[in-house]
Amino acid sequence: DLPTRVRIHEVGARDGLQNEKATVPTQIKAEFIRRLADAGLTTIEATSFVHPKWVPQLADAEQLFPLVSDLPAALPVLVPNERGLDRALALGARRVAVFASATESFAKANLNRTVDEALAMFDPVVSRAKAEDVHVRGYLSMCFGDPWEGAVPIPQVVKVCRALLDMGCDELSLGDTIGVATPGHVVALLAALDEAGVPPSALGVHFHDTYGQALANTLAALQQGVTTVDASAGGLGGCPYAKSATGNLATEDLVWMLRGLGIETGIDLGRLVATSAWMATHLGRPSPSRTVRALSHE
Ligand code: HMG
Ligand code: MG
Repeated sequence: DLPTRVRIHEVGARDGLQNEKATVPTQIKAEFIRRLADAGLTTIEATSFVHPKWVPQLADAEQLFPLVSDLPAALPVLVPNERGLDRALALGARRVAVFASATESFAKANLNRTVDEALAMFDPVVSRAKAEDVHVRGYLSMCFGDPWEGAVPIPQVVKVCRALLDMGCDELSLGDTIGVATPGHVVALLAALDEAGVPPSALGVHFHDTYGQALANTLAALQQGVTTVDASAGGLGGCPYAKSATGNLATEDLVWMLRGLGIETGIDLGRLVATSAWMATHLGRPSPSRTVRALSHE
């Protein structure tokens, strides 16, 4: 059975732009987010309040957020610690996301912490956010495979998911950070999570498209009852010179499939394609999305 409606969590301005070689001017980022909202996206991850040296592409978070905060769309932002939360709350953010790892190697590389130390870092972030009635998403990276550790055992993923939910996260997003998942693995993980008391209704899926599996994986997740799907406009992200890094599932490719299945998204595909084609001119490379290429006439 498929859902009748899917909520798309747009991550192009954050996950996409954090990985682009070119640093995009703040005004262009703001226009990008406005155009995404205009195309019908209702959840648009705007930026990250992380250490500016770790992600220089998003070092303008303080300047960007006020340029878009009047939009009716929900604008979640990433916060790794209390310092990040303070910065986000000071600008009036109403949705934040912490980001954990299922593997020790990536926890170290991404957060300079062990898995448990990272969870301890998030704990006060989540409780303070909840006390202020701020919505909290908990990302979990490396849910399928890890570049240093290989295939990630399902019980290891379930354990960190439970910890994030027990901490008070309102929803989780299962990240296939390096895009190695295949549909059978997705079904197995969702079944194990359901058994551990983490139902599909608490989950979003976050597929990177490195091996071209993101859309197939998404369909498998929808069949298991997931209704929140992360995607990035134009399939933004990744470095054209690095083999292991590619963008997320392209929002346009997702919308094309959902439309064909009769699943409501509220997105104007023409406006979205035009936005990604416009963004591609600023990034100096064509969009990797097949749907953007098929539907653009420039
Ligand atoms: P650290 O070096 O261990 O930091 O980094 P620290 O806690 O030791 O603090 C060192 C200094 O940084 C201090 O300054 C802090 O104030 C400052 P000092 O006292 O020395 O002058 N600092 C900050 N400044 C501004 N904003 C902050 C902040 N925090 C500390 N928030 C840290 C630890 C977590 C900060 C660092 O590792 C970090 O920023 N990491 C972020 C990495 C990141 O953003 N990765 C990408 C997002 S995750 C992702 O893309 C995956 C996802 O898409 C899902 C998937 O695909 O799997 C979500
Ligand atoms: Mg990601």
